[in-house]
Amino acid sequence: MFKLNRWRSKRQCRTVQTAPAGAGENPRFIRVASMHEVQPGTGKLVTMMGRDIGLFNVGGRIEAIDNTCPHNQRPIGTDGIRGSTVTCFWHNLTFELESGICTEAPHFKIRKYLVRVRKQEIYVSPGSRV
Ligand code: FES
Repeated sequence: MFKLNRWRSKRQCRTVQTAPAGAGENPRFIRVASMHEVQPGTGKLVTMMGRDIGLFNVGGRIEAIDNTCPHNQRPIGTDGIRGSTVTCFWHNLTFELESGICTEAPHFKIRKYLVRVRKQEIYVSPGSRV
């Protein structure tokens, strides 16, 4: 005899066990820059599908953030990079590039994007949110 509740519980367990983070999404990546354009300790602004994205090279790892400050919706820019943080030049709030969280006001968080680097080319997934 078919037991619906048992089937549902097995199905939910199976889904939890096999679903990696971001499952169900099939992120597509768009080439936005080359590694030589974003040297370690620097940033570069690129436009991807009409959005301004800040690329930052933090010790060889590329982080991609939305170039809109959550404090007042103004552009953050790339000049404020210091180590693994960037400071918005409008009101000097600082954001961790890895998490996107503001160090002074953690309720402010920058939107981040998935990044892939293949053969020295940087790709960003426009639909991703990290
Ligand atoms: S707009 Fe960025 S800190 Fe205020």
